[in-house]
Amino acid sequence: MDAEMQGQVAIVTGGGSGIGRATCLELARRGVRVAVADLSAEAAGRVAGEVIALGAEALDCGVDVTAAEQVERTVRAVRERFGRIDILVNSAGIYQSGTIDQVSEADWDRVLAVNLKGTFLFCKAVIPCMLERGSGAIVNISSISGRTRSQLAAVSYVASKAGVIGLTMCLASQLAGKGVRVNCVAPGSVSTPMTDLWSAEEREFIRRSIPMGRLGCPAEVASAIVYLASPAASFITGETLNVNGGAFMV
Ligand SMILES: NC(=O)c1ccc[n+]([C@@H]2O[C@H](COP(=O)([O-])OP(=O)(O)OC[C@H]3O[C@@H](n4cnc5c(N)ncnc54)[C@H](O)[C@@H]3O)[C@@H](O)[C@H]2O)c1
Repeated sequence: MDAEMQGQVAIVTGGGSGIGRATCLELARRGVRVAVADLSAEAAGRVAGEVIALGAEALDCGVDVTAAEQVERTVRAVRERFGRIDILVNSAGIYQSGTIDQVSEADWDRVLAVNLKGTFLFCKAVIPCMLERGSGAIVNISSISGRTRSQLAAVSYVASKAGVIGLTMCLASQLAGKGVRVNCVAPGSVSTPMTDLWSAEEREFIRRSIPMGRLGCPAEVASAIVYLASPAASFITGETLNVNGGAFMV
């Protein structure tokens, strides 16, 4: 339990898997009430069950983050159930690797729609609730690929993740005087269903490029996300925090 966060309400997109799931569980341990939002209603329901097993309240929401009306409906449902929204974590995302000749126009549109437009839509829907209360914290998920030379990722993924950093800084500056903080986490390579798609050779190539000599685990990213969402980060806004085992340093 965390005395300062207990009773707060969080929406976690992509909460059904990987980093989003780990974030839901870490928030639950702090006593935060969690809306688990995911394209897979089944995965959202499963993680909501895990949140409840940890003693916190949960709501599971099947939602496609690219569809504005579904996003707005989800935010309305969370407000109706819990009465407030303190935290938004935008973790829903899809990955694409490869060279530009392997990226179709449809690939580009889909990756940008989920990773960047989805983040925009959820921010747009949640911010009015936060402004009503004069407080809130948003944490967006970028990637090491959005900050430095990409090793495997495609232009679509890299552009979407660089866009998330720009979106974060723009919103942070617009909302800084209104009690709403907006930050970003840029994970390096983390073992989740997303990176399970890599071949053994790709995984080994990536592992060798990480000074700590291993991929991260979802809980190690979740702890950074929850820190930025918490009152412990009360003077931090517009920041992008690297969580990458030393793979990229600024
Ligand atoms: N795993 C990594 O190495 C890594 C590195 C850097 C950044 N990231 C980013 O972290 C975030 C989480 O990734 P992960 O590794 O946990 O992946 P994951 O595949 O385990 O989880 C992503 C979740 O997003 C959901 N999702 C996908 N499209 C959606 C949509 N249209 N609407 C709603 N939900 C949707 C999926 O159903 C899934 O549950 C992503 O934004 C990803 O780009 C991951």
